Amino acid sequence: MKSKFIQNYRVVSSRHLSGGRYVLLVMVPALENDAIPAGIRPGQFVQIAVEAPGVFLRRPISINYVDYDHGTIWLLVRDAGKATHRLMQACEGDIYNIVLPLGNGFTLPAVPDCRPLLVGGGVGVAPLLHLGSELSKLGMSPEFLLGARSEADLLEMDEFKAIGQVHVSTDDGSLGHHGLVGDNPVLTSGDYNIIYCCGPGPMMKAVAKVARQRGITCEVSLENMMACGLGACLCCVEKTVKGNQCVCTAGPVFNIDQLTW
Ligand SMILES: Cc1cc2nc3c(=O)[nH]c(=O)nc-3n(C[C@H](O)[C@H](O)[C@H](O)COP(=O)(O)OP(=O)(O)OC[C@H]3O[C@@H](n4cnc5c(N)ncnc54)[C@H](O)[C@@H]3O)c2cc1C
Ligand code: FES
Repeated sequence: MKSKFIQNYRVVSSRHLSGGRYVLLVMVPALENDAIPAGIRPGQFVQIAVEAPGVFLRRPISINYVDYDHGTIWLLVRDAGKATHRLMQACEGDIYNIVLPLGNGFTLPAVPDCRPLLVGGGVGVAPLLHLGSELSKLGMSPEFLLGARSEADLLEMDEFKAIGQVHVSTDDGSLGHHGLVGDNPVLTSGDYNIIYCCGPGPMMKAVAKVARQRGITCEVSLENMMACGLGACLCCVEKTVKGNQCVCTAGPVFNIDQLTW
């Protein structure tokens, strides 16, 4: 197992998105001599301790972005329940204890002429910002296909547009393609040789189906329920072609050929 760190992080900004249902937390190590662990891979996640009534376990949250130049780490959080609701109220100066970096992360292609499509839905777009940024640094031109219920629900559009071309699917047709991500013509006929995907299960299965039909390599990031995040409690197992595997250690990113979908 690669090194994991337990560190305190201080919130330097918390910005509410999409009508307050999401918060973008920008954090720095709380101790002056502490630093963000080197070499965090896109697709890795943290386990964050949140003090809230009825919350005993840390919660897994994807690393949205790491800015080593400014020493910040970004988390994009959706208000889903007790712990994440508490994070909606996070203020500048608040300290959170975090275990990181966890999981395997996405595979970065070795060939620079790779044409990647990064597909995200809802808060599943979170790890794709870091991934797109790293692919771009490697000389590739990543494109994004982002899905949401409506235009107002699309997250971090300016940040994604700063990295590459952004295609959109909205359920209500308020922006881009009217319909599901899995039916977007960019996915069904665009010229890509790797697809990365994170979002709701049905969306990822639809994207995986298209990728399989078109013979395109595809990696998906699973969000199974987790407790320890370290491979000890076995509560996050996913059935794979190699048997049951812990999503927190063997994943959360899997090549679709490894899954039994
Ligand atoms: C690898 C990974 C990366 C994730 N990345 C993000 C992210 O970037 N941003 C984000 O907002 N959310 C992310 N999630 C989901 C997030 O962990 C859950 O929304 C959060 O744990 C819910 O906690 P809660 O106390 O707010 O909700 P609860 O009140 O505990 O439950 C609300 C809902 O959240 C789900 N849930 C609860 N606990 C967990 C858990 N430990 N693991 C997974 N699901 C859970 C339950 O199915 C339930 O439906 C990620 C999950 C995983 C596994
Ligand atoms: S969360 Fe405990 S084994 Fe994965």
